Amino acid sequence: MPPGPPKIVPSVLPADFLDLGGDLAALEAAGVDRIQWDVMDGHFVPNLTFGPDLIAAGRKACSVGFEAHLMVRRPDDLLPRYVEAGCELVIVHVEALEQAHATLSRIRELGARAGVALSPATPMTTVQHVLDLLDMVLVMTVNPGFGGQSYLSAMEPKIAEARRLIDVSGHAIELEVDGGIGPDTIAGAAAAGADVFISGSALWRYDTFAEGVADLRARATAAQRG
Ligand code: DX5
Repeated sequence: MPPGPPKIVPSVLPADFLDLGGDLAALEAAGVDRIQWDVMDGHFVPNLTFGPDLIAAGRKACSVGFEAHLMVRRPDDLLPRYVEAGCELVIVHVEALEQAHATLSRIRELGARAGVALSPATPMTTVQHVLDLLDMVLVMTVNPGFGGQSYLSAMEPKIAEARRLIDVSGHAIELEVDGGIGPDTIAGAAAAGADVFISGSALWRYDTFAEGVADLRARATAAQRG
């Protein structure tokens, strides 16, 4: 499947945690395609963030889709909690999986879409045999764990390889990138074949969310057209 029209998805790590509901409603009003929750357990990555109860509370503030990016060492234990909290897409890191085929099948059995994330050093070959179980592949463009890091353009060949594998597979799989995505970097990722773009700190630097979403989407669309 060729790349779809660009989707702009905020990471809520930069949000105002004292007015999280307000930020979620403002992001939805700005036209984001869904919202990413960066779930960190302090083990898989050296940072600690959102439990399912906070996401369930956030579910009441907006109706746009939620994805949970699980940067946790033992995702299997947590899958049902994030689906119950209202995440229509659950993303697990292939580096944390003992049985990838079983875990991805489980996510779909729970009624959610399944995504797999690859940290920068992880090759696409680790997931080439489970593409039939995937709705999304996430190529990390920073090392997972923190927002505000610099985009790794060295990941663009891996994005292009993922695009080729997805196109050959014939499956409807989104290709997402995450980390350092902003006005100066989104075109490179889009030209390499990505069609879903996570943006945290860069989106919060625009005067308004609406301006940011429109600008990032326009830059990605232009890059896709080449
Ligand atoms: C990092 C997270 C990213 C990050 C994106 O581990 O997965 O979603 O929050 O933030 P920026 O866009 O600031 O790199």
